[in-house]
Amino acid sequence: MHFFSLNTGDQIPALGLGTWKSAPGLVGAAVTEAITAGYRHIDCAPIYQNEPEVGKALAECLNAGAVSRQDLWITSKLWNNAHAPEQVEPALRQTLSDLQLDYLDLFLIHWPVVFTPGVLFAQQPEEYIPLAQQPIIDTWKALEACKDKGLVRNIGVCNFSIAKLRALCDQATMQPAVNQIELHPYLQQNEMLAFCREHNILLTAYSPLGSGDRPKALKKKEEPNLLDNPVVGKVAARHGITPAQTLLAWGVHRKTVVIPKSTNPKRIRENLAAADLHLDHQDMTDLAALDLGFRFVDGSFFCGNGSPYSLQSLWDTEPGR
Ligand code: A2P
Repeated sequence: MHFFSLNTGDQIPALGLGTWKSAPGLVGAAVTEAITAGYRHIDCAPIYQNEPEVGKALAECLNAGAVSRQDLWITSKLWNNAHAPEQVEPALRQTLSDLQLDYLDLFLIHWPVVFTPGVLFAQQPEEYIPLAQQPIIDTWKALEACKDKGLVRNIGVCNFSIAKLRALCDQATMQPAVNQIELHPYLQQNEMLAFCREHNILLTAYSPLGSGDRPKALKKKEEPNLLDNPVVGKVAARHGITPAQTLLAWGVHRKTVVIPKSTNPKRIRENLAAADLHLDHQDMTDLAALDLGFRFVDGSFFCGNGSPYSLQSLWDTEPGR
């Protein structure tokens, strides 16, 4: 397994198990299977609504001696309804309790979007709080305090644009270690990759396989399919590997962490093996040509219903882009 260094000096495994969309009743077995197969990195979040089951599986693996806590890398996230500084530590403690852990390796702000406390998913205008009213830097300071207390080893963000990262880096006492964003050959984000390299922030790629199991409501009518892409297929055939392995090896080659989700034992193992596969210059050139700037998870679910958030404000893009 490859590791990447964070700006804190910690080493994060290059490939982890994603748990978004992993159904209750399946996610625990997936975590156990993954750890047995050799995964040492699990990516979690309270909004996935499966942390108690993940925690039970982790506890069983740890108690059985299948792995030691210091060899595991566990990431979780702060949900949008707990950005108020006084709510950050209680939300983290709930996640720690659900995961049956006494610290996280990495704690991330899940979205630069704020809901009113207690709201799981905002549906009404009054259930949103604009960032101007609940600034990211105040939430970030509360994450820094959690790190000072030893509750988390590293802190970072998800879904941050370059503009938001820049603003955070300018104001923060502790620099973010990670930005977790959607990354795959249809959304290569090369500017972001260059910015993060320059600022010593590691990128984690979510939806590296295109997240085909998203609920219908989160899908657009006509979406390109990543796993069926002929160029991906051609690169896979050249190496005798699968399209999924090609996509994951592409991410690792770019020195980004990849967190494929699977609850299928065979695919869990297939994905892990991808971290040790090598793509060559021709492969990377062929795959580089696939960039469409296409987001499978575009955040539009935060932008309706009279929300103060828009796609432009979320991603800091020009109108119409
Ligand atoms: P499953 O859980 O049944 O294996 P992402 O990580 O981009 O969110 O993608 C997750 C989706 O990709 C799930 O539908 C998952 O299904 C599927 N998947 C995971 N690994 C593979 C693989 N090696 N080959 C094909 N599909 C996969």
